[in-house]
Amino acid sequence: MRLETSLRGKWTGTGTPGATVAGRPGAVPRAACNALSRGRTGRGPAARYTTGLAPPPLGGPSPRTGTTVTQTPALEVRDLRKIYDNGTEALKGVSLSVAPGDFFALLGPNGAGKSTLIGIVSSLVNASSGEVRIFGVDRLAQREDAMRLIGLVPQELNFNMFEKPFDVLVNYAGFYGIPRAQALVRAEEELKRAQLWPKAFTMGRTLSGGMKRRLMIARALMTRPRLLILDEPTAGVDIEIRRGMWDLLSDINAAGTTVILTTHYLEEAESLCRNLAIIDHGRIVEHGPMKQVLAKLDVEAFVLDLETPLAHGLPQVEGAVFSTRDDHTLEVEMPRSMDLNRIFAALSEAGIRVRSMRTKSNRLEELFMRMTQAGRDAVAKEAEA
Ligand SMILES: Nc1ncnc2c1ncn2[C@@H]1O[C@H](COP(=O)(O)OP(=O)(O)OP(=O)(O)O)[C@@H](O)[C@H]1O
Ligand SMILES: [Mg+2]
Repeated sequence: MRLETSLRGKWTGTGTPGATVAGRPGAVPRAACNALSRGRTGRGPAARYTTGLAPPPLGGPSPRTGTTVTQTPALEVRDLRKIYDNGTEALKGVSLSVAPGDFFALLGPNGAGKSTLIGIVSSLVNASSGEVRIFGVDRLAQREDAMRLIGLVPQELNFNMFEKPFDVLVNYAGFYGIPRAQALVRAEEELKRAQLWPKAFTMGRTLSGGMKRRLMIARALMTRPRLLILDEPTAGVDIEIRRGMWDLLSDINAAGTTVILTTHYLEEAESLCRNLAIIDHGRIVEHGPMKQVLAKLDVEAFVLDLETPLAHGLPQVEGAVFSTRDDHTLEVEMPRSMDLNRIFAALSEAGIRVRSMRTKSNRLEELFMRMTQAGRDAVAKEAEA
């Protein structure tokens, strides 16, 4: 398959002499970073480099030895602090680690520090202090090498709407010094992967909202990043488009790219991501595997569909809270330790017959609310002290 060949093969660009670094990625043209931050596309200075771009092996036991291989994290952030010029302390000592191959969610309310963190990782924002390593490469000391490993999809649509998608991708590749012949091949591959090939040569502004978002992802993938970072890629798009994007991102992750995603849609994080961090007021308040984090919730909630409309009052069970959604649907919240039979016994006694039952799916939302509430309480205490 052409995609795999180009991912694994040696890749030699042509362009401005003097930027050649044999055996490792070369200089990221500053124009490329600037273009990302300013939302410009076009042709910038080219660099020449040679690099091996095989995707990282995924974690787990080594097939040869059977022993577990310790791997360099895709992203390692240590004690990161950011104080903006106006005195806002956006990050107050953030540390987190993302494993290679992971699909990682970064959650947090408005103003929590997500974009600041992403901005620092992708070199668009300067940190006040702390360390960032991308696949072991120091973001500060080896900035250009680190940048080579990252693809960023910012929240705002920032491609040139008067360009055709094919040109958007080819020109973007030009910023990174990718030879034109290679860029043409990749642009076709990426547009096909994003299901945009039929729109490749139509004006960007005529694309639908979902197509524009997919184009942003395709553009970020032109440099074959090992780490793809998306800042609220599905904000404000309808559920159908969102689901299409989930499929695309799952495919990208399955092909070996580590994905970090910020989102306000908690069901998105729950269905896509294996690990997560919750950030609030510039601090990480939760960090770990999704299942483990969710298991910390000591309360479970169920939705019960009733055979017949609810005629009388709600049953009483100590420790459980019943509520009605409508006359055919009950919700019950109960401690994890509580035996479900107690609930059903009380329902039978009250003459309520249950047709079906499901777990209420907003567990992550529940957790999120608790964690961020804890953060707000801590900030309020700090302010009082
Ligand atoms: N350029 C800036 N100058 C000053 N303060 C800033 C700047 N950018 C962000 N901030 C502040 O830093 C804090 C964190 O902002 P940030 O944009 O990182 O949050 P966020 O988690 O991405 O929020 P959202 O979910 O709304 O995008 C906020 O208080 C914000 O006002
Ligand atoms: Mg943000």
